Amino acid sequence: MYLSTHFRTHNCGILNISNVGETVCLSGWVATLRDFGGLSFIDLRDRYGITQLSFNMENNVFLSEAARSYGREYVIQAKGKVVERSNKNPKIPTGEIEILVEELTLINASETPPFTIEDNTDGGEELRMKYRYLDIRRPLLSERLILRAKMIKAMREYLDERSFIEIETPNLIKSTPEGARDFLVPSRMQKGSFYALPQSPQIMKQLLMVAGMDRYYQVVKCFRDEDFRGDRQPEFTQLDCEMSYVSQNDVLNTFEGLTKHVYKKIMNVDLPDFQRLKYADAIKFYGSDKPDLRFDCKIVDLLSENVIKNSSFPLFLSAEENKQIISGINANGCAAYSRKQTDELVEFVKAPHRGLGGLIQIKFNEDGSVKSSADKFFNEDQLREIGLLFNATKGDLILIVVDREAKVRKALGDLRLEIAKKQNWLKKDSWSVLWIVDFPLFEKDEESGETIFVHHPFCAPHPEDLQYIDSEPLRCRAQQYDMVMNGWECLSGSIRIHERELQNKIFQKLGMDEKEIEERFGFMINAFRYGAPPHGGCAFGIDRWVALFANADAIRDVIAFPKNNGGRDIMMDAPSVVDSKQLKDLGIKFEF
Ligand code: AMO
Repeated sequence: MYLSTHFRTHNCGILNISNVGETVCLSGWVATLRDFGGLSFIDLRDRYGITQLSFNMENNVFLSEAARSYGREYVIQAKGKVVERSNKNPKIPTGEIEILVEELTLINASETPPFTIEDNTDGGEELRMKYRYLDIRRPLLSERLILRAKMIKAMREYLDERSFIEIETPNLIKSTPEGARDFLVPSRMQKGSFYALPQSPQIMKQLLMVAGMDRYYQVVKCFRDEDFRGDRQPEFTQLDCEMSYVSQNDVLNTFEGLTKHVYKKIMNVDLPDFQRLKYADAIKFYGSDKPDLRFDCKIVDLLSENVIKNSSFPLFLSAEENKQIISGINANGCAAYSRKQTDELVEFVKAPHRGLGGLIQIKFNEDGSVKSSADKFFNEDQLREIGLLFNATKGDLILIVVDREAKVRKALGDLRLEIAKKQNWLKKDSWSVLWIVDFPLFEKDEESGETIFVHHPFCAPHPEDLQYIDSEPLRCRAQQYDMVMNGWECLSGSIRIHERELQNKIFQKLGMDEKEIEERFGFMINAFRYGAPPHGGCAFGIDRWVALFANADAIRDVIAFPKNNGGRDIMMDAPSVVDSKQLKDLGIKFEF
């Protein structure tokens, strides 16, 4: 590595026992200062590590006094000899040596930082966001940014080797529908008109296929004005890709290959071939379209089982008539849960957004006995028969719910994850990466009752389901796929519609008339007149993938300058009020 010899000959993470005897020059930040009277030490920090500087009163009073006058985060330069340490620190790579300082320069003083710059810092989240540049000095954060850069490099490597071309697309565009609100940018030249920031480069990359670029990718910022969560930021980064003349299988194989390459290169993990789980099965068995399969715990449907039909339990007997289903999961090894713990599970499914009435429990105790919360209605044989349907053995806890199908699947999907968390089944260093395929093309919006797209309106219908497009649109599957890593949706994509008539038809199904189609998508439909090749692609959510590798709970922890949960950049204090002159230039009047 090239280092300017003026400021440093080495960085703070590189010197070791083999450098003993060399005269070196280091620059960095004062991480800690330890003063033992005659002897004092500074831990000098930079991005690469920490090197101990040593000062001895007997050798040089002047230098020792200077060192003792420094505070945390002072920027200093030290020249001296590398010597073997008497008190070695095996925890860091430079722990066997120290520098006997002969020359010392104060480059820049620092005020006392508002929190300690170490992995176990005393600073709260908001304070660290405000001083993000100090937070990034903490190895925990800087290492995450380095990891991010390495991952993106590995992605580019894979794509570059396969004839993909990185092409930039514009940020000031017309709205692209990805299901969120747009961020709008007012135009000064055409007052009253607005650009939209891209929710994704979806249309642009399709037009690049029409343009014949054949294989495109881009590491690209996307902007979506939606509610923020741990796995969402208003601006985030995609690895956006598109290919021409491909089937769904070609796209899945290409990006499964990319994923395996990055896992191997960065984590040294050899992933097995990915399971391809149909959307309908993901919902049926795991209650989620992004199931975490690091553990099994499948949903078992009981409605048609004789032991259920023959029971005297009114809730079970009335289920069919009430258009309800009866389903459950086996919480392996949870029979010993206390009353308090099972009550918590009951409350969990009763939470307003899940809205179930309760949870029936059957405990297969270690001593061989069986106990149920519905003992009144079941004898032991019946309980054991139910247990067989779940492959229950001693120590297992069966949890059963009754309600409308969508509610049951969602609640059991959430419950299986909750139990996995409680039981520590979600091992950080184990990986479940799979494809979800055969998503529905349309769904009904619960509030408005309108037909809306599931992914975006450019997804091609499944060829077998084209026949239903007019008669039963909700029955149509799309050639759409997601990649799920440890329960996080990290990629979405599809084969696209490349025929003008079909694209028009889909827009119409989504409730747009000719005029609206022309206004919003005329340029795209028009492009399809000039020989659009069949094409398809996908986009990885880079922030999510990095967060998984970094073992971070939220994607803001792997973004250099993220927004907080309210969508604010609290370091810059954005969004902020702008002056009235700027608004006037843009022709914008505010009335509150
Ligand atoms: P989609 O909208 O599913 O598809 O986005 C692709 C991937 O981007 C990530 N992602 C996000 N990450 C952080 N914050 C957000 N707000 C956010 N929204 C999405 C997810 C997701 O899987 N144009 C299509 C892709 C295509 O069809 O090729 C698209 O953008 O990991």
